[in-house]
Parts: sequence; C-alpha cells; structure tokens
Amino acid sequence: MKLLPERNADRPGNDPIFALNAQAQERKAKGDAVINATVGALLEDDGTLAVLPTVIEALRSVPATKAAGYAPIAGDPTFLEAVRKDLLGASSLRDIAVSAATPGGTGALRHAISTFTERGQSILTSSFYWGPYATIADEHERKVSTFNMFTEARGFDVAAFEKALDDNAKAQGRVLVFLNDPCHNPTGYSMTSAEWEAVRDALVRTSEKVPTTVMADVAYLAFARDTTGFLQYLEPIADKGLVCFAWSGSKGFGLYGQRVGALIACTKDEAQRGAVQRALSYACRGTWSNCNASAMDAVKRCFTDATLDAKVREERARLIALLDGRVRAFNAAAAGTKLVYPRYDGGFFVTVFAKDPKASMEKLTARGVFVVPGPGSLRVALCSVAERDVGALVTALDECL
Ligand SMILES: Cc1ncc(COP(=O)(O)O)c(C=O)c1O
Repeated sequence: MKLLPERNADRPGNDPIFALNAQAQERKAKGDAVINATVGALLEDDGTLAVLPTVIEALRSVPATKAAGYAPIAGDPTFLEAVRKDLLGASSLRDIAVSAATPGGTGALRHAISTFTERGQSILTSSFYWGPYATIADEHERKVSTFNMFTEARGFDVAAFEKALDDNAKAQGRVLVFLNDPCHNPTGYSMTSAEWEAVRDALVRTSEKVPTTVMADVAYLAFARDTTGFLQYLEPIADKGLVCFAWSGSKGFGLYGQRVGALIACTKDEAQRGAVQRALSYACRGTWSNCNASAMDAVKRCFTDATLDAKVREERARLIALLDGRVRAFNAAAAGTKLVYPRYDGGFFVTVFAKDPKASMEKLTARGVFVVPGPGSLRVALCSVAERDVGALVTALDECL
C-alpha cells in the first residue's frame, strides 16, 4: 500500500541545480581547483554572497513587534505601493495596478498559475525556461507548453511565439504567458524593441479573443541595461487583458533567503481589477497566509526613506558593475572560440549551445568546472564566477564542447 497518492509517489528528491552545487562544494572542500558556475546568486569574487549592507542594516533594525507580528494577508500596503512605484514608475500601468505580497517571485508565479488558469491547462513560455516553472505548474496540476525561443540568427522566434499563442488560445480558451525578460534565465537574452513590438501585437490580438494574461517575470530586472523600456510594450495589453509582474527582492535587494516578493496585476477594467485583487488575497490566505513581515518592512524603508534609498542604489550599482565586468570578460574571451550563444549583454546567466550537453558536462566536471546542463545547452552562472576565472571557464567550455 503506497502512502502517497500516485501523483506524488515518485517525486525527485533534490533540485538538480542545488545537487550540482553541492557536488562542486564537496570537490572544493577536498582541495580541488573548482569553477562553480551553477549558483543562481550573485557572489563576490571571493565566493561569498554579495549583500547590500544598507538592506541588511534595515532588516536588523526592524522593531521586534513588527518582526514578530502578522503582516496583512495581501501584504503591507506601503511596501506594495513602493514596489509598484519602483517597478512601474511613470507607466500608465501604475494607475491600474493591484498587488499582493508573495514569498519571492516564485510565490507570484505560483499565484498566477493557480489564479489565472484552470486545472489541466498549460501556461505558455519559451523553449528555454527556468525549470521551476514546470515544477510549480505540475504541483498545481497544470502544464507548461513551449515555443521555440531562438531563430537560426539567435533572435527571439516571434513567428513561433505567435503560432503557439494562437494554438494555445484555441485549445484552451484562455492564455497565461510567462515572459522572463529582461535578462532571461537561463539564456541571458533580452528582447529587442522590434521583438517586443511583435510580442505586444500578438498579445493584444489574442486579448481581443480570449482572456489573456501575460506574466512578466522580472526577477533579474535590477541588473538589466534598461529597466523601464519594456513597460511600453505591455501597456496596450492591459486594455483588455491582464498584465502581471513577478517582482522579487531576491536579486535586486540580495534578500534571497528572506522570501520577499510581489505579484502586481494591471488591467483597465476597474471591476475586473477588484475581482483580481480579491482572488489574489484569497490565494494568499489559502497558501502561506501572509508573508515575511520583517523583510517587507526593511524593503519598504529602503524604498521610502530617501537616505536609505540613495545608499541602496549606490551599493547595488557596485554589484551591477561587478556582474557587468564578468559579462564583458565572457564576451571578450568567447570571441573567436567556437562557443555559440544568444546575445548576452547582462544578467546572471548565459547559455551556450551544446550538441551533447551531458558528455560536455562530464568532461567539464572532470576539470573542476561546474555548469548546469539543459536541452541542447549548458547554463553558465556568471553571477557566481569571479572575473579572474572567466577566461579559464571559457577555455574549458571551448575545449569540452
Ligand atoms: C527566472 C526566475 N524567475 C523567478 C525566480 C524567483 O526567485 P525568488 O522566488 O527567489 O524571487 C528566479 C530565481 O532564481 C528565476 O531565476
């Protein structure tokens, strides 16, 4: 007699990326020379986690009663208003936004899947995607369907997107699209304006036919070249559809473990907006009840206190420069090698295409270089590799592919 119901009876025990990281750490502890490009967190060149001291200080100074008390179910309203202001700035979306606090961006993605699709339906995303999309969908008895992400010229495959969007809309009568842009994980790609325009037009067309939700997963937004330009392409979709954002405090505030995030949802129709807000609050109560009060309080003060805000921005600018140095070093070292990868001008990861990723990974692991294999590719987390090691990393990739 199985204690677990069939669908949970044979779950994989460990996230594969965390398992690979553990393997790299073990080798390092034995004294081997290791380049660990698996970790999805920004590390200083000495391998320690990069933090924003002002944010940590704000966290430490949360009053005891604030830290110990329950936060409002949908989140601290001042925190949410500050996030909406930071994210949406002067965009018209800001006037038509509702929101709920979530444990990281993951919580926002979870709420989108459970709130905006029916059981058994699929979310639509690109063929390269962050693995937990599938885990979250499966956990909620939903699926992921994908469209080919890159053309031969390694641009965003707009035609494949349009076709998949159409098929998805016809098949299930509603769509939920996840777009992880800018600084897509795992490829590092950010769409061009022309690609965004085509994506916008396709989503507007679809929103005139079936209920359409686009979820902009902006987990890496703070590290993008342009942090607001993409908003203009989302604005017209909110006329009839729903434009959502999964905002995360993990990368931009370096608060990975504090689990602070928000789902922002924008649509023009006021009545529907109210219904969305109620559905999100209900989903909060039905899952985690309420979020981390301390982290919300710290982030809120970092946004609303002008002195703290300026200090956070300055400290973040140092981290952006740290990562940008690695991105430049990667592109410079990869020029003239046989590495093939999409345009990469910022973000935690880049993906190099590989004919036999498993074989390449074994060769790399034998040399003490750890990356994450995916379909036809290897994900390289430059966020965790010191600039001085980037040249050796590229050489190893070039020799092992
Ligand atoms: C693409 C993407 N989306 C969302 C997240 C969510 O992160 P968190 O839940 O820590 O905010 C991550 C984290 O690695 C990510 O890579």
